[in-house]
Amino acid sequence: MSSLLCKIEQIFKYMNILVTGGAGFIGSHTLIELYAAGHTAVVVDNLSNSNPESLRRVAKIIGTDSIPFHELDVRDRGGLNKLMEEQKFDACIHFAGLKAVGESVEKPWEYYENNISGTLTLVDVMRNHGCKNIIFSSSATVYGDPVEIPITEKCPKGQCTNPYGWTKSMLEQVLMDMQKADPEWNVVLLRYFNPVGAHPSGLIGENPNGIPNNLMPYITQVAVGKRPELGVFGNDYDTPDGTGVRDYIHVVDLARGHVCALKAIERKCGLEIFNLGTGHGYSVLDMVNAFIRVNGVKVPYSIKPRRAGDIATCYSNPAKAEKELGWKAQYGIEEMVRDSWNWQKLNPEGF
Ligand code: NAD
Ligand code: UFG
Repeated sequence: MSSLLCKIEQIFKYMNILVTGGAGFIGSHTLIELYAAGHTAVVVDNLSNSNPESLRRVAKIIGTDSIPFHELDVRDRGGLNKLMEEQKFDACIHFAGLKAVGESVEKPWEYYENNISGTLTLVDVMRNHGCKNIIFSSSATVYGDPVEIPITEKCPKGQCTNPYGWTKSMLEQVLMDMQKADPEWNVVLLRYFNPVGAHPSGLIGENPNGIPNNLMPYITQVAVGKRPELGVFGNDYDTPDGTGVRDYIHVVDLARGHVCALKAIERKCGLEIFNLGTGHGYSVLDMVNAFIRVNGVKVPYSIKPRRAGDIATCYSNPAKAEKELGWKAQYGIEEMVRDSWNWQKLNPEGF
């Protein structure tokens, strides 16, 4: 109901949105919701972790010939300048960034350079062209080991356990300081919890390179026979079944959260921070068992040692996004595991 309200309100103001990283997992799903709400979008992506096929499939779902796309790196000042001279954007949704936690530990310089330089260049070019509205992809990782559960936006930020997490935490600070110095900026920091699932069509979904780091793509690759078994990282946490508890959120709900966040931009919010999660915590074994039950497939697993840097429990209090944006997650665990499997089954090799 609240998502419907958000949609109805959106109808009154259409925007032209610059979507960086729009060929990726969350960006591609967001494009569909932006178009469904009547907005237009232009994608900038360097394709370092995505395939342009995702944009062709988005176009198919939307029922259009193609999505405007520029193969461009957000660190490319000249390219961004040219694009923003050619057309005006009302706001930017900034997804572009490297996101693999383990890789960031191996290659910290590459992560700081790509994520931080990319964002600094982007916001500089944006302000030079008079576009001072940005929605930034942040993460629950900025809370570190949270001091309160469920986590509200008032929960203090914590110590990140890897360079990727620090890039998010540092970039939040950069954007907050810029907004403070120049109140013409409207900055919405969206702290995502654990995105899973895929578009119900099965045409787009998560397409990780190599061995998946995250739980859900690992489960789907075991189910499809690409990997022999899932390792469950620890069953001795202080949680109901001993395995880690997270706030999994369907990527379509997450995508809709960005459309709703445009409302904050529209009302010239200054700085706003929102958790995007469901408010429910599920353990690793909850997810595995739901996947097996809903999809009728086998997922062999064995218990392994804890993974370095993992915390026991992390889930959100998403009340602020509901109250202020009219956004609330609509999908539950069954849709999450169903749509993750549908995507993997229809696209065993990804795009
Ligand atoms: P993704 O890797 O699928 O998408 C990111 C896109 O950005 C890719 O298409 C990649 O090619 C592009 N990109 C990377 N560096 C670029 C650059 N310098 N210039 C232009 N394009 C560049 O990742 P995703 O899961 O869709 O995540 C989107 C955003 O959300 C990221 O910033 C990520 O850190 C953040 N986030 C993701 C999760 C998650 O679990 N998926 C959780 C919290 C936050
Ligand atoms: N897990 C396993 N086996 C696996 C993979 C994961 O047991 O093969 C467990 C983890 O130990 C954890 C849970 O599944 O308990 C979820 O792990 P993920 O790697 O899927 O997700 P994280 O919560 O560790 O981190 C993810 C993103 C971060 C992001 C964070 C919060 O990787 O970038 O969600 O949004 F910051």
